[in-house]
Amino acid sequence: MYSEKVMDHFINPRNVGEISEPDGVGEVGNARCGDIMKVFLRIEDNVIVDVKFKTFGCAAAIATSSMATELIKGKSVDEALAVTNKSVTEALDGLPPVKLHCSVLAEEAIQKAIEDFKEKQETKVGA
Ligand code: FES
Repeated sequence: MYSEKVMDHFINPRNVGEISEPDGVGEVGNARCGDIMKVFLRIEDNVIVDVKFKTFGCAAAIATSSMATELIKGKSVDEALAVTNKSVTEALDGLPPVKLHCSVLAEEAIQKAIEDFKEKQETKVGA
């Protein structure tokens, strides 16, 4: 049912954990199942130098969270915003159709964390 890559990222998820005093945080819930993902970003000179996540969810949610964090690490903020659930799913060699909704969690949490980062930047500039 799951590709080898999905199984690998589910069994050995990359970047699990938290970042203390992160530059951006995003937390989202999946309306369809109630699962939750929280992502923490460390951003320097507009580049994501570190990312960690915690996902309370199914195998597909954990695997997509893991792959999504790998895809945005080292990328600029704008490049990270271009990472979609489709690109994450493709990088995992696909997901069963019934599990596609799980991949939206990572995309949304990353977008939210970047929004949080941008808001914090504006506050700093305005201060
Ligand atoms: Fe909830 Fe997969 S079933 S994210």
